[in-house]
Amino acid sequence: MKKYDSILSSMAIQQLTPDIAREKTVIIRTDFNVPLTHKAGKTTVADDRRIGNALQTIQTVIEAKGKAIIISHLGRPKNKPDDKLSLRPVAEKLERLLDKPVKFASDCVGEVTENSVAQLQPGEVLVLENLRFHEGEKKNHVGFAKQLAAHADIYVNEAFSTAHRSHASIVGIPKYLPSYAGLDFIKEVESLAQLMEKPKRPFVMVIGGAKISDKVAAVEHLTKIADVVLVGGGVANNFLKADGIDIEKSYVQDVPAGEKKLSSYIEVADDLIQQTRHERMLKDGYIPLPKIIYPIDVIAAHSPESTKTKTIEFFTQDYTEYKGNGDMFLDIGPQTTRLFRELILQAGTVFWNGPMGVFEQDAFATGTREVAQAVAKTTAVTILGGGDTLSAIKNFGLEGRFDHVSAAGGAALEFLSGKVLPGVKVLKAKK
Ligand code: 3PG
Repeated sequence: MKKYDSILSSMAIQQLTPDIAREKTVIIRTDFNVPLTHKAGKTTVADDRRIGNALQTIQTVIEAKGKAIIISHLGRPKNKPDDKLSLRPVAEKLERLLDKPVKFASDCVGEVTENSVAQLQPGEVLVLENLRFHEGEKKNHVGFAKQLAAHADIYVNEAFSTAHRSHASIVGIPKYLPSYAGLDFIKEVESLAQLMEKPKRPFVMVIGGAKISDKVAAVEHLTKIADVVLVGGGVANNFLKADGIDIEKSYVQDVPAGEKKLSSYIEVADDLIQQTRHERMLKDGYIPLPKIIYPIDVIAAHSPESTKTKTIEFFTQDYTEYKGNGDMFLDIGPQTTRLFRELILQAGTVFWNGPMGVFEQDAFATGTREVAQAVAKTTAVTILGGGDTLSAIKNFGLEGRFDHVSAAGGAALEFLSGKVLPGVKVLKAKK
């Protein structure tokens, strides 16, 4: 994939190299916040992707005869030890993936840990227990950050997916140690930065999923940069409603209590439609399309469990006859799917976050499957994000067919909204 370094160089983030790691004790902040399965008294890692993403950085340290100390949070414990959220099973998984012994310390600070660190030999790996068992982590206590920093010579952040958190292990430790970004951290920043900086055009953004709340800021920011925004899933209901379509019982997310500035996400959709109403993208070089495209037809049913479906075409004469049936819109329709596919296949860059419908049910999977296949097939640079999008590509057997699949949920969306994340900023500030 073409690299766009100017955002990175302007950030002055330095990547870990073998020379930097050579014979050093390196504390590596990973995001080993992975799903676990508890069965018959045994806890195992249900999805090891995030552990896999950190392997190259850990290997770099151990091959350079450095000592690797791994730190991470897991879940959201209540500032005290919780057996169900121990990183021990994660350390066991890491041992299998690295194919070499991995030591484990039952705390991340204190005497026991200091002894384990003191005994660590060059080329060895030590995983420390869950950082969030201490309240100093989330509260970014200076004393806690200093205790962690004292374990090592240098710090590496290999947890881009937590870079939006101002926690001790993210923004505290770098104040006391020379700090670097891990290889996967850099890959995430580069991939996401190229969307904002120099996307190959046309830049097609595909947004879906049930919820809009966590994506609003990223969608608003990227809409200014993208050439066309294709909207499906539950998110599309806000746009349809803003356009005056009766969306019946379809899902629309309420604005969370306390969010005073906004009365509804339909308002956000309406604003975006208004802001872009004069912008056109030329399809096939001559057909003008609006910048934001929401479904022209949908697959509807009385409930997501129903197999009795109907296709509703908006903007046709028949449409008025449909009103008042109490249906839910559960997938994009065939005409919308065809249009989305064509635009994705003509794109220079595609960013996709969120399924087009309730893809877990066969009756409503077609839109998401066809979009996923088009994103896999297009010659465009393809960047994907979001847990549901990842599940969808796994379901359809399309893993490995994209340029970059982001493991960062909230952090990626905050980055794409144009914010400088605290975990990124602190690496820059150190230089
Ligand atoms: C994530 O899974 O998005 C990261 O690990 C951050 O977790 P958090 O939302 O609990 O801070």
